[in-house]
Amino acid sequence: MEDFLSTLRELEETGSAAIRGAGDPAELEQVRVEYLGRKARLTLLLRSVGELPPERRRPAGAEANRVKKRLLELLEARAAELAAAVAEGRAESDATLPGRERWRGARHPCTLVTDEICEIFKELGFVRARGPEAESVWYNFIALNTPLDHPAVDEQDTFYLGSDVVLRTHTSPVQARVMEKWPPPVRILVPGVVYRRDPFDASHAPAFEQIEGLAVDEGISFVDFKASINYFVRRFFGEDVVTRFRPSFFPFTEPSAEVDVSCTICHGKGCSACKGTGWIEIMGAGMVDPAVFDNVGYDSERYTGFAFGMGVGRIAMQRYRIPDIRLLYESDVRFLAQFERA
Ligand code: PHE
Repeated sequence: MEDFLSTLRELEETGSAAIRGAGDPAELEQVRVEYLGRKARLTLLLRSVGELPPERRRPAGAEANRVKKRLLELLEARAAELAAAVAEGRAESDATLPGRERWRGARHPCTLVTDEICEIFKELGFVRARGPEAESVWYNFIALNTPLDHPAVDEQDTFYLGSDVVLRTHTSPVQARVMEKWPPPVRILVPGVVYRRDPFDASHAPAFEQIEGLAVDEGISFVDFKASINYFVRRFFGEDVVTRFRPSFFPFTEPSAEVDVSCTICHGKGCSACKGTGWIEIMGAGMVDPAVFDNVGYDSERYTGFAFGMGVGRIAMQRYRIPDIRLLYESDVRFLAQFERA
């Protein structure tokens, strides 16, 4: 019996030391086989309990099982430590292995598209401007020639913070803020998040990114407007893409247009992305309504200009062939990593 117990003690000591000393998973596996495998001394000892005198079997068996359990626990803990070390790249590694690639993150597809659009318009002399997301009713609606009883207000407004402040429903209020502050000429591009009374479905989100554009100067005509938009569309979508201006209405532009581009996926033949029409709507736009100039103190007899607003998510969907806008709002790195590698 003394022999039995002292062998157990020895195995417990040397076994735990060997487990602690294992430097990598392969070494640990060797230790496991040596101390707990089918032919290990501890295993054989456990099997021999039955050969002991009857009164000694119970205490000997209990002690042997305790040692086995302890070694198993140590083994499991060490395995977890080694796995963590491997994950953090701390493990001693084979110098001939290729380096581990580490993903350092990537820009969101909406950010990529925003930057690209801003770069293209920069070539036409546009600079970036910003404005607040919590906006006054004056800038969001009234300054933009949108009386509060206009149907567009009911369709768009979402959260009021107090009676006079609303989460902006578009980036257009920044037009008014900039014009109030700076004399013409103005050429700005305004990226930012806007909030709408919209459902969250495959092509709508209640909060989304827009880019607003505004150009004001003496003598800006509808031709300048169309040519600038066409230039942008060709640079962004490709030389073979066709632009279409459809008459539309916005309270702050006159005349107004919806701008469509020929579907980049089916090239105008009709597919599910363009709902069979061959066209994708990319922006609302038009010539700035003189009433807006009057509201911000510009001389509406002297100055003209054009403005446009586009949904960045929808453009990113076209560019990267993303089938559902909701994917843009999931923080799944496997999705995000597809668009840019650092
Ligand atoms: N603000 C409009 C919208 O969000 C888009 C727009 C901007 C239309 C500028 C005309 C001019 O729908």
